[in-house]
Amino acid sequence: MRLDRFLSSQIADVSRKDVKKLCLKGRVTVNGTAAKRSDMHIDENKDVVLLDGKKIEYKEHIYIMLNKPRGVVCATRDGLSKTVLELIPEELRRKGLFPAGRLDKDTEGFVLITDDGELAHRMLSPAHHVPKTYFVRLEKPWEESYKETFGQGFEDDEGGRWLPAEFEPSQENDRECLLTITEGRYHQVKRMFIQLGNRVEFLKRIRIGKMELDANLPAGGCLEILHKDVDKLLTKKSG
Ligand code: URA
Repeated sequence: MRLDRFLSSQIADVSRKDVKKLCLKGRVTVNGTAAKRSDMHIDENKDVVLLDGKKIEYKEHIYIMLNKPRGVVCATRDGLSKTVLELIPEELRRKGLFPAGRLDKDTEGFVLITDDGELAHRMLSPAHHVPKTYFVRLEKPWEESYKETFGQGFEDDEGGRWLPAEFEPSQENDRECLLTITEGRYHQVKRMFIQLGNRVEFLKRIRIGKMELDANLPAGGCLEILHKDVDKLLTKKSG
């Protein structure tokens, strides 16, 4: 791979032209020698490339677990509100990042930020039925009948059907529960509870596939997901 392509793909806000300038200034080294030409070829998996003395590791894609706080929008750009991308720290930023799937502005919890379009498609496509689990606090107590209703699926508010979902009531609090759905339709959890005569007061996504939101991650915090764990985002059955 060319050095300029390598560096511009791994560092946000650095273009190929910028790499040329960085090389001219002697700020880039390859295996200990200053790189004079930005079009030189390197082995991205073996050669040691430093920018200002800092090693630049090659990763084809990056996967970030974000604990989205309320008030932030799942978009790459928004004129008014803060976006999830603005919460990504400098060291994890790179070109092409986007949120794979959307949570409402007032919903909290696990959002995957990545530059891997193929994985995002597999995770979000209805055909793959990747389960997503939400912690829900309701306005009114849940009813015993919810388990069966969700378990069987029921008529939606558009003349179709909601696919079966797993309802797990809290044993400690009669307004709290977990709900696992395998679709990702607009305002889905809120709409499902409205149809049952209740209302969602607080919503937080706590799991995607088999991957749990890290309990130690504060609201607004990010964590890089290791490549060996990425498959968990696609796993259908938890446990
Ligand atoms: N369901 C909703 O209603 N809102 C979300 O943000 C996610 C799922």
